[in-house]
Amino acid sequence: MSKLKTLSNGQLIPVLGYGTWQNTDPQECIDGVKTALETGYRHIDTAQMYGNEELVGEGIRLSHVPRKDIFLTSKLDNPNHGYERAKKAIDDSLERLGTDYMDLFLIHWPEVEGHMEDWQESNIETWRALEEAYEAGKIKAIGLSNFKTKHLKNLLANCRIKPMVNQLRLHPGIAQKETVAMSREAGMVIQAWSPLSPLSQMLDDEAVVSMTEKYQKSLAQLLLRYSLQKDFIPLTKSVHKDRIKENAAIFDFKIDEEDMAYFDQWEWEGELFN
Ligand SMILES: NC(=O)c1ccc[n+]([C@@H]2O[C@H](COP(=O)([O-])OP(=O)(O)OC[C@H]3O[C@@H](n4cnc5c(N)ncnc54)[C@H](OP(=O)(O)O)[C@@H]3O)[C@@H](O)[C@H]2O)c1
Repeated sequence: MSKLKTLSNGQLIPVLGYGTWQNTDPQECIDGVKTALETGYRHIDTAQMYGNEELVGEGIRLSHVPRKDIFLTSKLDNPNHGYERAKKAIDDSLERLGTDYMDLFLIHWPEVEGHMEDWQESNIETWRALEEAYEAGKIKAIGLSNFKTKHLKNLLANCRIKPMVNQLRLHPGIAQKETVAMSREAGMVIQAWSPLSPLSQMLDDEAVVSMTEKYQKSLAQLLLRYSLQKDFIPLTKSVHKDRIKENAAIFDFKIDEEDMAYFDQWEWEGELFN
């Protein structure tokens, strides 16, 4: 399996990303990003909403991995929807991250406070700011996050530049099949957030326990590999060095069809994003 995918505009994106949601403890966040890069991750995911862009930038600098070798994503915070606000927010992200470009920038959520009634227009206007920043070279690729079919239809019918990515909550039990299919049909690559969500619910599942023995891999590694084999780009986060390393060791085995099918039919006990 290749460790890179190609976005619709030709940009390469590493197929495993290190996430930084809830990494708000300054030292933990800086160390996490630095450790991930030193371990070999080349894809870092943050967001304005996480309040840690400066820390992520610092972790990148301290790692001494050249900026050009890193795929860096951030996302627009909900209060920054609208053309003018989004334009300024992109520049603010660049400043906080301490970089003159981002590899990917996403609209984090499609329906946000203040725009619950006019989300259609608001998303179109916001997207215009992303298109301009893309053309100005401030962002190498632009995309969406948590956009479902109705949001996609609206944006796809009204954009000049098509989104290149949709970042969605995806793991066994949450498949979002229609959204994934529509996104792919429109040329988007799919990123999967919170791919390890089933960890606690699966711990005592006999079939899954026997899979850990069969593949000699941890449950976390199975869940990340499952995501890769669904052709998603899993984003995963840990602040622990051993787990950061463990989560990257998913390229040396393959889950067979029968076990993939078991994960596919496994039922999630929680909110359904489908
Ligand atoms: N677009 C969106 O709306 C959205 C929403 C949520 C997240 N995201 C992005 O997606 C990323 C991934 O989601 P997530 O942060 O929920 O990550 P995740 O990788 O699904 O789960 C992380 C949780 O699992 C634990 N963990 C990590 N590796 C482990 C292992 N090998 N064994 C046992 N436990 C392990 C972590 O704890 P420790 O840190 O203590 O190890 C943490 O509590 C986020 O960080 C963020 O960048 C995007």
